[in-house]
Formats: sequence, C-alpha cells, structure tokens
Amino acid sequence: MVKRFQQKRVNIAIFASGSGSNFEAIVKYIRKGEIKNASVKLLITDKKDAFVRQRAKKFGIKDFFIDPSKFTSRLSYEKRIFKILKSEGIDLIVLAGFMRILSPYLVKKYKNKILNIHPALLPAFKGTEAIRRAFKYGVKITGVTVHFVDEKVDHGPIILQEAIKIKPSDTLQILEQKIHKVEHRLYPLAIKLFIEKKLKIKGRKVEIINE
Ligand code: GRF
Repeated sequence: MVKRFQQKRVNIAIFASGSGSNFEAIVKYIRKGEIKNASVKLLITDKKDAFVRQRAKKFGIKDFFIDPSKFTSRLSYEKRIFKILKSEGIDLIVLAGFMRILSPYLVKKYKNKILNIHPALLPAFKGTEAIRRAFKYGVKITGVTVHFVDEKVDHGPIILQEAIKIKPSDTLQILEQKIHKVEHRLYPLAIKLFIEKKLKIKGRKVEIINE
C-alpha cells in the first residue's frame, strides 16, 4: 500500500511596525489557497498603535505587541519574542516593515527561516526610507527585493527581485504606489517558494528549483 505523507503545516509569524499592507497581501494570498499547508499564525509588533494590528484583528490573527521600552536590551527583547514563537510553533518569520534590526540571537535561532522585503534593488539603498532616497537620488530604475535575513542589515541571499522604472512624471507618491503593488505580488510568491521547498541557498545565491 502506498502511504501518503501529508506535509506538516508551516506556521508563519509576521513581524511588522506600520500599516501592514504586505501583511494583508500575504494573509489574503494564503487564505485564497495559493499556498497549501501554511498559515499566518500571529503578528508581532513593536508599535502599540500600528495599523497592522487592526488588520490582524480583521483577519482574526493573534497579535502580540511587545513593548521594547520594557526591556533592557535587544537580547532580552528577542528572548521574549523567541518564547512566544516557540510556544506557538512558528516555523517561518516574515519581516514586513518591522522597524527593528534583529540581533544574531534570533537570526541564529531561525537560521535561513527569516525573510525580509526591501523596497529597493539591493544592495542599493539599504536601510530606512529607501523609496524616498532612491527617488531623491534620481535613479531611473529602482525596485523590490525579497531576501533571506542574515546577521547584516538588508544583506542576506536574494530570493526575488523586480525592477521598476521611474518616469520623469512620477512623484514620490506614485513611485511608492508602484513599489507596493510589486511588493504585494512578490512577497507572497517568495513565501510560496520557501514553503514548497523550492529555494536552495548556495553561498550568496539562491537557486529556484523548477519542477
Ligand atoms: C514596505 O515598503 C517594505 O518594503 C518595507 O516596509 C514597508 C512596509 O509597508 N520593509 P507595509 O506596512 O507592509 O504597508
């Protein structure tokens, strides 16, 4: 008799500090059934008033506001987060506008199991306010990057990238809209590839296995 192995469900925690439009795009994509055996189990935020918390509520997703001011160090802060992740059985961390840099502690605990999205073509415009800085710099092409998180900021192996042209008539607001539109398509796709085990890290490179 042939035994069918059911793939274990992958539990995702999304970390976010702001509006949460990526959070919403990911949740909707998964709930549409585009990724089998995955669920967004919880939201971790460091901002009490972040709009993403309202989105979590709307979808009935648990949200944990962990107040950084209550901790004496980044390590103790992340140890608290790690406890939650463990007790909730989290397999994958998805950073979606989380405005804190993870320390090597959490990066090691979830080695190659943390993804991030950056609103520029890395390694250009690392850090915060990347869309605005790229726009002000006058680049004619920018874009979106989804990558694995390692110990350095906006540095880990790149999973997906998509370029976006900046037209002379584009305002910063228009560019922001263009970037978010691409983000909402690219991030769910990268998560799908990860969950379907189609990503192979080879040094700095990520091979995408096509079946
Ligand atoms: C996105 O532009 C993402 O690339 C960056 O932070 C922003 C978060 O936006 N890391 P939102 O909260 O998902 O709307």
